[in-house]
Parts: sequence; structure tokens; C-alpha cells
Amino acid sequence: MNPVKRNILLSPGPATTTDSVKRAQVVPDICPREEEFGSLLAGISEDLTRIVADPQTHTAVLFAGSGTAAVESMLCSSVSADGTVIIVNNGAYGRRMCEIVQTYGISYLEFTSSSTDPIDLEALEAFIAASPRKASHLAVVHHETTTGLLNDIGSLGELCRKYEIEFMVDAISSFAAIPIRMEDLHIAYLAASSNKNIQGMAGISMVVAEKKRLDNMRCNKPRSYYLNLYAQYDYFVRTRQLRFTPPVQTFYALRQAIDELFVEGIEARYKRYTKSWTTLIEGIAKLGLKHLVNPRHHSKIVTSIIEPDCSGYDFRNMHDFFYDKGFTIYPGKLERLNTFRVANMGDITSEDMEAFLRLLAEYLDSIGYIKSV
Ligand SMILES: Cc1ncc(COP(=O)(O)O)c(C=O)c1O
Repeated sequence: MNPVKRNILLSPGPATTTDSVKRAQVVPDICPREEEFGSLLAGISEDLTRIVADPQTHTAVLFAGSGTAAVESMLCSSVSADGTVIIVNNGAYGRRMCEIVQTYGISYLEFTSSSTDPIDLEALEAFIAASPRKASHLAVVHHETTTGLLNDIGSLGELCRKYEIEFMVDAISSFAAIPIRMEDLHIAYLAASSNKNIQGMAGISMVVAEKKRLDNMRCNKPRSYYLNLYAQYDYFVRTRQLRFTPPVQTFYALRQAIDELFVEGIEARYKRYTKSWTTLIEGIAKLGLKHLVNPRHHSKIVTSIIEPDCSGYDFRNMHDFFYDKGFTIYPGKLERLNTFRVANMGDITSEDMEAFLRLLAEYLDSIGYIKSV
């Protein structure tokens, strides 16, 4: 079989996939209400759970929808009418959680934090202790894809345990690369999606939670019809089906992607990602470019690079230069700093990163950029 044209996506997901994942979508047509499809979904749910928790006690509730669907479901389904959620906002995805709860009229308190430096845990604890309303939940983005900043969910989980707060984590861009154990980190709800470090296709997202906790949501008044976490959990227990039409072929690709993840292993995957990232940051430093986040707090998955200070530079031109050669780069997402982003998630290696760096040197040369080192 001929290989599919290989594009190197250095954008922060959907990530570059293997040909076997792409091809897994080509299957005989099947009605998703058939037993056979139910078995596929049940296996996927169990294996996704296994990545972060014990499938005996926890489960992954599946949704057709991008990562935001899972984050939205987790927030709108768990905070009860008399509850209040503290949202840690240190990037675009923390801000999005604030926008989601505003949309639903959920009571929340926003704790803003630097987009490049670690969360000040003492300040957060003081914020919790002094909050005008007792917080029932706390939500944070594990890996802020805006900058590459990795939030310390271990310490946040401890704080939540101390103050008896349910801890919610948006792990969309860390899941399946950075090892996470929900039980150890006191995480009550965790959101993830199919198209980042799992290296599957876009269109499926999931909330992992303890089954007992989900059972207890029975009495919560639903705020959303489609994204009702309890309703999907309960329906799946009874039928092994999604409530609404699933992206059938995308689930076959996800099955293959999970199998490939388990063959590689999460730690080995993160090691491969880290090797690509080290190649990237050493390479850009040689070219005189700087990146935003200190390596000590860096995810090693997405890097925000400060744009070259050069009159010939234009992000769009640089993007097109790379795109023509099969590489996709991504604009920055920060208001006050001009950055662009390079991700190293997906089925790519440090050799791909070396090829990217050679092209970057060529591009910088073509615009007359003079190294600042
Ligand atoms: C941390 C984080 N949360 C949420 C999302 C939203 O996911 P989606 O664009 O798939 O809805 C993203 C997407 O990049 C993300 O990185």
C-alpha cells in the first residue's frame, strides 16, 4: 500500500497521525446501535480510563465533539446550583473555562495567574480561604497550550483535598503523553480529546471520573441537553451506546491510536516528545530565537517562540514558506507578546524537528535576520 503524503503538523493538535490510524477509518459501514459497535466503544472507554485511573472505579464518558465539549460537559454538569467553581486562568484555555461558566450562569471565582510563571500556590490558598463564597470545585488547565506552561496539578490537588474541593482538570493537551494518576492527584474530573497526544482523529472527547461520583450526579439539575455528563454515563451503562450519532469511523481510528499508544507506552511517548522538544529549543537558541516558558515549568510538548525582531518577518509568509514544504506551524495566542508556536506532539520524531530547523534557518536567512547571539 502506498504511504499517505506525510504532512508534519507542528500545530498543537490535531497532530500528525500514522498511516495505520488513518487507514483504520476505512471499515465496512456499520450501524452504531449494533452490539459489535457497543463492544468497540466499551473497550475504548475502558482503555482511555486506564491511561489515567483504575477502570474498576473510574470510567471515561465519551462524547462526539472536540475537546471543548468535554470541558464544557465537566463544568456544566458537576457544579450544582448552590456550588461555586474557582477557575485558574493563566492562558487562553483557562479563560475559555471562565467563558463557559459565564454562558451557563454558573457561580465562579477567577484566579488569574501569570501565563509564563508557575501558579503562586500561597496566593491561591489565600484566595480559597478568603473567598466570599465557599468553593465547591476548582478547575485548571494542566498543560496551557497557549504557552507550553505545565501547571503543577499535584500541588493543586493537595490544596483541593485540604479544602474539600472537587478538582477538575482540562488535560486536553497533556493526556496520553504526561503520566497522570487521578487517584494520586485527587482529581475528580478530567477532560481529554482524541486528536492530540493520543494521535487519533479529531471529533471525540471524554470526561474521566469516578463511577460513584457520576452516580451521585443523578440529582443534579441538567444545564445542557447534549453535554449532560450524567445522562451520557447512565445511557452508556445501560446500552453501551452514545446518546446521539457517534463519528463511527473516527472511533475505529481511535481504537487503532490507543493500541499504538499502548505498544509505545506513555513514558516512552513522552520521552520521544521530549527528545523532539530538546532538539527544537537547542536549535532555535542557535538561531538566536528565544522561547517563553522556563524549561523547569515547560510541558515539552508545545513551545511559544518569540518572533524574530526583523522588518522582513511576517508570520503569514513564514507559515506559507513552511506549508509549501509540508510543515504546519501555528500563530501565538498571547495578547501582549508576539509569538508563534511549534508543537512536537503526534507521530513525529527529532529528525523531523531537525528538518524543521534547517528550513527555519533558511527562512530567517531569506528575510535578512541577523542572529542576536
Ligand atoms: C488545553 C486545551 N483545552 C481545550 C482545548 C479545546 O479543544 P478543541 O479545540 O478540540 O475544542 C484545547 C485545544 O487546543 C486545549 O489545548
